[in-house]
Amino acid sequence: MKKYFVLLIVLYNFTFAQFTDINIVKEIHAQKKGLVVSAHPLASEAGAKFMKMGGNAYDAVIATQYALAVVYPQAGNIAGGGFLVGVKNNGEKFTIDFRETAPEKSSKDMYLDQKGNPNTDLSQNGRLAVGVPGSIAGFFATLKYAKLPMEKLIQPAIDLAEKGFSITQREANLLNSQMQNFSNHNKTRTVFQRSTPWKQGDLLIQKDLAETLKVIQKNGAKGFYEGKIAQLIVNEMKRGNGIITLNDLKNYKVVERKPLTFNYKGNEIVAMPLPSSGGILLAQMLQMSAFEKIEKYQQNSTGAVQVMVEAERRSFADRAEYMGDPDFINDKTQMLISEDYLKNRWKSYNNLKATPSSEVGKIIPQPKESTETTHISIIDKEGNAVAVTTTLNGLYGSKVVVTDGGFLLNNEMDDFSIKPGVPNMFGAVGGDANSIKPGKRMLSSMTPTIVMKNNKPFLIVGTPGGTTIPTSVYQAIVNILDFKLSPNMAVNLPKFHHQWLPESVMVEKNFPETTISDLQKMNYKIERVTQIGRTELILVDENGNAIAVADGRGDDSVAVE
Ligand code: DON
Repeated sequence: MKKYFVLLIVLYNFTFAQFTDINIVKEIHAQKKGLVVSAHPLASEAGAKFMKMGGNAYDAVIATQYALAVVYPQAGNIAGGGFLVGVKNNGEKFTIDFRETAPEKSSKDMYLDQKGNPNTDLSQNGRLAVGVPGSIAGFFATLKYAKLPMEKLIQPAIDLAEKGFSITQREANLLNSQMQNFSNHNKTRTVFQRSTPWKQGDLLIQKDLAETLKVIQKNGAKGFYEGKIAQLIVNEMKRGNGIITLNDLKNYKVVERKPLTFNYKGNEIVAMPLPSSGGILLAQMLQMSAFEKIEKYQQNSTGAVQVMVEAERRSFADRAEYMGDPDFINDKTQMLISEDYLKNRWKSYNNLKATPSSEVGKIIPQPKESTETTHISIIDKEGNAVAVTTTLNGLYGSKVVVTDGGFLLNNEMDDFSIKPGVPNMFGAVGGDANSIKPGKRMLSSMTPTIVMKNNKPFLIVGTPGGTTIPTSVYQAIVNILDFKLSPNMAVNLPKFHHQWLPESVMVEKNFPETTISDLQKMNYKIERVTQIGRTELILVDENGNAIAVADGRGDDSVAVE
């Protein structure tokens, strides 16, 4: 006999507009019920609703992504890209790579001036920063795993765009912070701009976006990649220095890739292969910290953080040297995650002091920047699981809204290495493996991950955060498997991050001061930041009892079917 119980922890609720209530729910425990965790309550609810109507996790993830494109414009999108990792209840594992590609008119040195100096403003802002979008193709590729028709799954997004929804305080603040950028990068006034500041509870109505979604509803993926919407994108390119053509859009293709799978202490980790660096980094970091028996330490203690930081340092040095689109490079994945290679890499580890970054890779100067992307974790009552991370790259992407289309374009081109050694907006450096070539996918850090125990999904996890993504997912997994923390603590306790360059260790506010001062004594430089990532995690035990946790760092929210 199946028993259902649902425990809700509702952190706050506000109702300002007649159309939508915003209920942010941070944790739900449920047995054999569908659960969705995403960055926004209305998007999680859109997904959960379809599981109630007979859909599965893959129906839910499509509906949630469409809804995020409306209610979470900073990162949710129809003109960005992402990665999906799925495990079906029959054990089938799959990934969908809907990463953007470099346009056919792109070239290796397109962001360099005549003197060979890089112009990161061009790779990060405006029309030239846009990669050929993959999201809509990704949603349609997911449909073969779903049960319900696309016409239905897109409807909640259309309603939210047409009727509007009340924005949260966080959304109001973010929109207000970008007014100048929106006006700098758009020729016509966008729906996000207004003369008085946005405030919590204001209604955001997006009529043009609703019309675009209706064209997709009627004409399918072609409705986006060909015809009127494609023409609107190309027209937008011509309003400035954009280079995406109708051909680029028509030729965009998702790639279904074999997941990167590896064993970690008896659990099977199912992760994203290249062109995301996430899976490889995770495999490297987990194996290296296992050499030091990480489970014997306490979470965020000096010993644990030192081991994990050193594992992160070595993995990120490899990221810069070896990783890129596997269809364009000599793919070294198997070498990079092999035990022999990692043992050798770990030889320089010294438990008394920091290893200088120059000793683990060729040094190049750096700064760094901030973050926007979004992650969704879903389980359904039949045991199908899905993890998706999707992005426009920066906050509101390129800041360009397609005129009459109402949707934001990504600035994903910045994830290429625009010149060897020049850091991208996350401070990541790279070389030839990640140089620009027409049709190539830019290297990513997104790490949607499913951890399997006894051949069943045990953890479904992911986060935004640029280069902090793999290290946050790594910490979430170690927090649960090794430090035996609850899902809530695994997600919400302060995190840290290291990426080889810059040399410093990033720590979140409230990080234990004793650990910080111990690390400083061992020659670690510390950089304090307000927050790292927003992790969405579902844990399912062997009896089907599930705990879903939405990160406390944002408006992230869980919904149950
Ligand atoms: O693919 C990547 O690695 C980046 N474009 C992700 C950007 C991101 O996570 C921003 N996040 N908050």
